[in-house]
Amino acid sequence: MSSIVVIDYGSQYTRLITRRLRELQVFSIIEAPDVSLDTLRAHGARGVILSGGPRSVYAPGAPGLPAGLLDSGLPILAICYGMHLLARALGGEVAASDAREYGKAVLTSYGGELFDGVEGEFVAWMSHGDSVITPPPGFVVTASTADTQVAAMEDASAARFALQFHPEVRHTPKGLWVLERFVAATGVDRAWTSEHIIDHAVASVREQVGEERVLLGISGGVDSSTLGLLLHRAIGPRLVAVFVDHGLLRLGEAEEVERALRSLGVDLSVVDASERFLEALAGVTDPEEKRKAIGNAFIEVFYAEAARVQDERGDIRFLAQGTLYPDVIESAGGHGAANIKSHHNVGGLPADLRFELIEPFRTLFKDEVREVAEALGMPKHLRDRHPFPGPGLAIRCLGEVTHERLEVLRRVDDIFISSLREFGHYDDAWQALAVLTPLRSVGVMGDGRTYANTVALRAVTSVDGMTADWARLPHEFLATVSNRIVNAVSEVNRVVYDITSKPPGTIEWE
Ligand code: XMP
Repeated sequence: MSSIVVIDYGSQYTRLITRRLRELQVFSIIEAPDVSLDTLRAHGARGVILSGGPRSVYAPGAPGLPAGLLDSGLPILAICYGMHLLARALGGEVAASDAREYGKAVLTSYGGELFDGVEGEFVAWMSHGDSVITPPPGFVVTASTADTQVAAMEDASAARFALQFHPEVRHTPKGLWVLERFVAATGVDRAWTSEHIIDHAVASVREQVGEERVLLGISGGVDSSTLGLLLHRAIGPRLVAVFVDHGLLRLGEAEEVERALRSLGVDLSVVDASERFLEALAGVTDPEEKRKAIGNAFIEVFYAEAARVQDERGDIRFLAQGTLYPDVIESAGGHGAANIKSHHNVGGLPADLRFELIEPFRTLFKDEVREVAEALGMPKHLRDRHPFPGPGLAIRCLGEVTHERLEVLRRVDDIFISSLREFGHYDDAWQALAVLTPLRSVGVMGDGRTYANTVALRAVTSVDGMTADWARLPHEFLATVSNRIVNAVSEVNRVVYDITSKPPGTIEWE
């Protein structure tokens, strides 16, 4: 399938450009400015988008255009920093400026290929210092704002377009239209649908794996479960799926995931390792130590089970991982946006890894995995679950993790989450959770005093978990949940709701 490659000059919106293209059913992938023409060809590039970036093209060491791009004949859409690079490279003039234009601007478009159908005024999101003051020969100015004369320019005969504003952000309501016009100018395939994603992944897994077996660790989360479904479709019984139940999932969740996968044909071997994990966590209160203990226990249990299956059924050559595209972009680092999230996956791979890795979701965003899950038949309430951390309830059980404390937390969490669903608020939150704090306090119940635990409820809105705001759940709803918890869980006599955003707070309490 052909693609549009986005060259990343460090804009915080680079990833958004690829996502918007995928919304237009175009396959898109991000590369660094030093990408070679061979790599672009290998991606089936039919067009290239140069992203914005925080620097001035006049700054020392400012990254340039990919070598050979201008001679390749590939259609180009250059945004912000990319526009300045393109203008300079083709003989236009770019003015450096200390003053930044930032925020919403009203743009007047004069038509042209990209603005066909949106001539006139529209709102666009601007964020720039430098600007083009003289377009290169062959280019015409296609839009202006009050402050920026060359807000867009194009040389349609050469399929080169440039925008000073950001078409990829929602603050530019006509932006998707403009991107779609570029897509049309490139002739790229528009077939990036979940069916296509599945067919493509199935074909490449089959090609890579041949007649060999693939081992997959299932954590209970959406990504690994969906990968199980996909691999099952690709290689059937040659998938060796091991579900390590660490006993840190939510009430009934392990059983539910197991049932769903089995009903869809995936033959799982389930290892109930909750005792093993509790032992590993005994006496551990530091969150990073908890993660380490869980990661190590996971690796031990998983590989012991893999060895057992190997003895029984013969050699396994491949190990599948549910790595997603954001992990790939982040670990490539360097040319990406400044946010580098620490890797949250349970465990790592042992040093003497005997498997070859396959990562069929390497090019997918999380919402695409959910679409794949839907297309593969995963029930809605499983695939629409909020993100859930690999170390599970262990990092929501502040202080020591014991069987009793986990049980309290599990019941509280279940009341909160099922009430969110019951009252139709589940989708108002990007993530919701309950925390068992190490705090006990005095309360009064009936005629007696109590001295019991405090739990905290947290629900946040977010796009990707990097930043978040606390969800404004209705007070009446919170009151109901609080009553339900204190009435049903005798170990708890106080419920608080967390009203901290991220930053400064994190989503998990740990
Ligand atoms: P924080 O607490 O850092 O969380 O604001 C951001 C997102 O990451 C999840 N999270 C984890 N996920 N292993 C995971 O798989 C972890 O150790 C971990 N810690 C936090 C958290 O649930 C939220 O969605």
